Amino acid sequence: MKVFVTRLLPDTVMGRLELSKEISELRVNREDRPLTRKELEDGVGWCDIILSQLVDSIDSSLMNINPDLKLIANYAVGFNNIDVAAATEKKIPVTNTPGVLTETTADLTWALLMAISRRIVEADDFMRSGKYEAWSPTLLMGSDVHSKTLGIIGFGRIGFALAKRAQGFGMNILYSDVEEKSFASEVGAKYTDMYSLLKQSDFVSLHPFYDEKSHHLISERELKVMKPTSYLINVSRGPVIDEKALVNALSNREITGAALDVFENEPDMEPGLTDLDNVIIVPHIGSATLDTRTAMGNIAVENILAKINNSDLPSCVNPEVL
Ligand code: DGY
Repeated sequence: MKVFVTRLLPDTVMGRLELSKEISELRVNREDRPLTRKELEDGVGWCDIILSQLVDSIDSSLMNINPDLKLIANYAVGFNNIDVAAATEKKIPVTNTPGVLTETTADLTWALLMAISRRIVEADDFMRSGKYEAWSPTLLMGSDVHSKTLGIIGFGRIGFALAKRAQGFGMNILYSDVEEKSFASEVGAKYTDMYSLLKQSDFVSLHPFYDEKSHHLISERELKVMKPTSYLINVSRGPVIDEKALVNALSNREITGAALDVFENEPDMEPGLTDLDNVIIVPHIGSATLDTRTAMGNIAVENILAKINNSDLPSCVNPEVL
C-alpha cells in the first residue's frame, strides 16, 4: 500500500517507514512546513493511507478525493483535525496515539504551573536585561504552589498524571468531569462541580476532551468566578478557552496569571495576549520530547502496518467501521 506522510517524524520512525517491506511506496513532505491544501489533496488522491498531523484538516471533502482511502493514522492523541463522523460514514478507520504522551504532557503542565506562579520567565528576562542590582525583599514575588488548591477540569489520563505530581507538593486536589472517576481516590482528588472548583482553586488546569460541549468552557463568566489570586493553565485545546475573554481578564487582573500551550486560532494569538506580562505562552509543545514523539510515531506506524496486514488496529477511534 502507498503511504503519504504529511511531515517528517523523528528519525527512527522515518527509518521504520522507509525500511518497511510492507509499504510499497512512501511519499513524505520533507519540507519543514505544513502542507498547503492543494498538496494535501494531491497526496490524499495518490495514497492508500495518510499519516496526518494536527495541522492537516482532514474533512469530508478531502476524503471524497479518494473513495479508496484505507486509513487515516493521526500523529496525536487528539483528533479534532479530522471529521471522524465523515470518516465513519465512508468506512475509513481513524487511529490516534494514546497513552505514550500522558506523563510528558503532565510534565509540561507542571512546568507551566511552576513557571507562572514563580514568575520564571519574567525573572529570566529581568536578569538578561541587566536589571538585577541587589537582593530585594519584594523583588518578583510570586505565589506558593505547595499546600494550595489545584482544580483539574477533565480527569482523564493527563489530569490524573497531573494530580500525582500535585500530591508530591501537598496540594489539595479537586476535579470536575462529566462523571465521578473511581481512580481519583488513588491521588486524593475530590469530585466537585466545575463552578465550585473554579471558586475554590488557586490553580485551574484544563484537560477536557475537546468537542462542541467543551468549546469556550472557560469564558467571561467562568473567569469571573475564579479567585483574583488564581492562575489558569491550558495544555488541552485552545478553543476550550474564549481567548478574548482571557485577555480581558488578564489585563484587568481578574485572575493573576495564565500559562498556555495551545491557542484558540493556532498559530495566531488573540491581539493583546503577547503584550501581557502575566501570561506564559509556548507553542503546543506538551508532548515535545524525543522519546515521546518517537513513541507516538511508533504507534502510528504500528497502526499502518496492522492495516496493511489486515490485523487489529492498536488504537482505532471509530472501531465501528471495522
Ligand atoms: C496531541 O497529541 O493531541 C497533542 O496535542 C500533540 O501531541
